[in-house]
Amino acid sequence: MQDRQFGFATRAIHAGTPPDPVTGSRVMPLYQTAAYVFGSTEQAAELFQLRSYGHIYSRISNPTVAAFEERMASLEGGLGAVAFSSGLAAQLGVVLSLAQNGDHLVCSQNIYGGTITQFTVLLKRLGIETTFVPADDHAAIAAAVKPETKLLFAETIGNPAGTIADLKALAGIAHDAGIPLVVDNTFASPYLCRPIEYGADIVTHSATKFISGHGTVIGGVVVESGRFPWDNGRFPLLSEASPGYHNKVFTETFGEYAFLMRARAEILRDVGAQMAPMDAWLLLLGLETLPIRMEAHVRNARAMAEFLDKRPEVEWVSYPGFASHPQHKLAEKYLPRGAGSIFTFGIRGGREAARRFIDALELWSHLANVGDMKSLVIHPASTTHSQLDGDELRKSGVAPESIRLSVGLEDADDLMWDLDNALKAAVRATENAPA
Ligand SMILES: Cc1ncc(COP(=O)(O)O)c(C=O)c1O
Repeated sequence: MQDRQFGFATRAIHAGTPPDPVTGSRVMPLYQTAAYVFGSTEQAAELFQLRSYGHIYSRISNPTVAAFEERMASLEGGLGAVAFSSGLAAQLGVVLSLAQNGDHLVCSQNIYGGTITQFTVLLKRLGIETTFVPADDHAAIAAAVKPETKLLFAETIGNPAGTIADLKALAGIAHDAGIPLVVDNTFASPYLCRPIEYGADIVTHSATKFISGHGTVIGGVVVESGRFPWDNGRFPLLSEASPGYHNKVFTETFGEYAFLMRARAEILRDVGAQMAPMDAWLLLLGLETLPIRMEAHVRNARAMAEFLDKRPEVEWVSYPGFASHPQHKLAEKYLPRGAGSIFTFGIRGGREAARRFIDALELWSHLANVGDMKSLVIHPASTTHSQLDGDELRKSGVAPESIRLSVGLEDADDLMWDLDNALKAAVRATENAPA
């Protein structure tokens, strides 16, 4: 049994959670504790010097959170993982582990509006500049890299327009420049795509979405491949003595674990954006059904996209599963099990019709989240991407009439019944409205 390579579904249920050795509990216990008793003063000192492994304080590590981290590392095919309190905290953790004042990032512009704001406003104030480039303009991406660039960031399936990143090409550009490719894999989940298999070095997730699956948790996680040469001269935060941790040189002390150790021992410790044990416990439960949920999400999403595509009230459907989508070939290559369950469409009648459509829906929930069992809807231009100006909106693929659907697991017929009623009501009301 020990040398067997278990399949994805088996690891989604078992990785990180053997039966509890003390009580025999088959479910991972919820270690709802802030701190851990030391066996001796010597052991306490060893732990604080990072000379032996163990839990000190739940801001840095916790057994229930560690089980979630181990399961995520297994599912993404990484060396290890560090969990954070949210997806935004996870990606901030990556940036702060690698970059400081004066450094620079290159980032796809076809991504979540909150990430664009985090990079353009918060990181800029901290002295870290970002150049945004179209995910499919590889020449522009390569040209944007400067000597002080620390990473290239992209989303597997871009939020909300469904732009698919050519992961192999992006990894090639990043590695030629001596920087890691960081991929936000939230919209795909490790079931549909594992970016590390295509050369990505670090994967981030908003675990809030498909990993939870039930809309119960805000969480994030970073998984690292363990393959990137952090001692290539470009990452002094890892390869030079760190005043934040007894002047340790992370690359020398921890080898392939250098990045993961700095992310945990310095960034998680100093920022305090750790995952709560209860949230990790819920996420472990969510992961157990990830494979079957994703299969059903993909099936329902295709049914909705095909339904909308035939409707006279609909101007366009941007669904990577359609041959007409600009990155359909990339979707077939990187997402062979399906292009996820989040896509956008444009309603006839522009922003006003979009507003009326959303207000007329009954079964679909109008809220700012995706990846739930429940079907969700939102108008990105006035909500998730509303911090962006007109030019940024256009660049990130958000039109005034764009409506984003996150297709859940209800009966497809019921979802279509609701869409049908709302489409008719919205377009009728918009066309009859006084000019
Ligand atoms: C693609 C993507 N990445 C990251 C985030 C941020 O995640 P969180 O809300 O868990 O901080 C989101 C949130 O919607 C997202 O859609």
